[in-house]
Amino acid sequence: MENKRGSFGSKFGVVAAVAGSAVGLGNIWRFPYIAGENGGAVFIIVYLLICLLIAIPVMISEFAIGRHGRKNVMGSMRQVAKGKMWLSLGYLGVFAAVLILSFYSVIAGWTLNFIVESVKGFSGMDVTALTANFNGFVNSNEPIVWTLLFLALTAVIVLCGVEKGIERSSKIMMPMLVLMLLGMSIYSLFLPGFGEAFRFLFKPDFSKMTWDVVLQALGQSFFSMSVGMGTMITYGSYIKDKENLYGVGATVALSDVLIAFLAGVAIFPAVFTFGIAPTSGSELVFLTLPSVFSQIPAGQLLSFVFFVLLFFAAITSAISLLEVPVAYLTEEFNIKRKWAVVMGFVVIGALSVFCTLSLQDGSSLVVGGDSLFDFFDKFTSNIMLPVGGILVSVFVGWFMDKKLRYDQFTNQGQCAVKLYKFLVFLVKFVVPVAISILFISKNLF
Ligand code: TRP
Repeated sequence: MENKRGSFGSKFGVVAAVAGSAVGLGNIWRFPYIAGENGGAVFIIVYLLICLLIAIPVMISEFAIGRHGRKNVMGSMRQVAKGKMWLSLGYLGVFAAVLILSFYSVIAGWTLNFIVESVKGFSGMDVTALTANFNGFVNSNEPIVWTLLFLALTAVIVLCGVEKGIERSSKIMMPMLVLMLLGMSIYSLFLPGFGEAFRFLFKPDFSKMTWDVVLQALGQSFFSMSVGMGTMITYGSYIKDKENLYGVGATVALSDVLIAFLAGVAIFPAVFTFGIAPTSGSELVFLTLPSVFSQIPAGQLLSFVFFVLLFFAAITSAISLLEVPVAYLTEEFNIKRKWAVVMGFVVIGALSVFCTLSLQDGSSLVVGGDSLFDFFDKFTSNIMLPVGGILVSVFVGWFMDKKLRYDQFTNQGQCAVKLYKFLVFLVKFVVPVAISILFISKNLF
């Protein structure tokens, strides 16, 4: 049984795969902008605290469920929990993965288009020309092709299996991503806008410290660390018994935060050098950056490198999302991996086509005033992930068998023993209470 299931082969492989899931579009285009707009260093301090006290404990809890259950989200919940109620976490996980991947592939598809565009070069195009170009692109049928191409590439990797597909591709792409990002950051150090960018990102502005900043930090940390749904349960089920779950969680969280910082350092100096306002996330990456790149030395090479690294970040996250329904289908319904991947591709592909169409001017694919794309984004991040986070922590804190939890958290008393009590305290009290307060205040006020 154990042999038939895949598993991550090496420690580096585990960290690469899990960090591959965590590090994604959330770090590179969302984090720098959100941090900048929410008080810079103030946001970063809150963010770090939330990662440490909330996101890491949830991640370890998810690993523990998956590693004990040794199954997909649903199967693992059935193994560790008594009663049907907890299976809701399994359904939530599979459903959330499908919805997230449906809108995620759209932006990831744009990055593919921009890799090609950057080879052609953006020279001579100012922001107005680029905006017209981008609007034309979004309103054409081209994004559908790129989105489906991206999903197909994701499907091919997932098809190759846990070790040969997911782990191997992450082991190649993650180090390359870090190298490219480091290269870009070093280049940015020499741009005149570096000082201003540094202040924007890291100078604390305490007047911006509001309740909303905390909410934003929570949402960002869950999305960025891929927690609150089935991804880390599924990946946890591929982690070998000898790995130290706390070590993996802490290493991944640190990499996730560092890469988000580096992304800010790589992007903003160029933006400030040209006195451009660091406006909204998607615009920043797909409009402002190309215009900046077209004006600086080696800009064409930089923009190519940037969009390739964005693509790497996106696809290593996308495979972790697709693996959730694929593992579910293969194990719960005895479907061959190949067909599970095909089914995932068809369903998510169809939804993602609707998401691309919903971004066109005058589209009627609107839910509650938001485009379908925005609706999926908000519904998953604001509702499904926090609810998932509460369910995971309440389950592991209060309902999971104590011995089983101890054995998973500490590898039968071999590691992280001193931290165990503190982690359990966080999982039992801090995580559910904090998320509930934030969740209720966010949805009611
Ligand atoms: N963490 C990824 C990012 O930062 C996105 C992602 C992958 C994700 N798997 C997830 C988000 C599971 C939430 C849940 O882009």
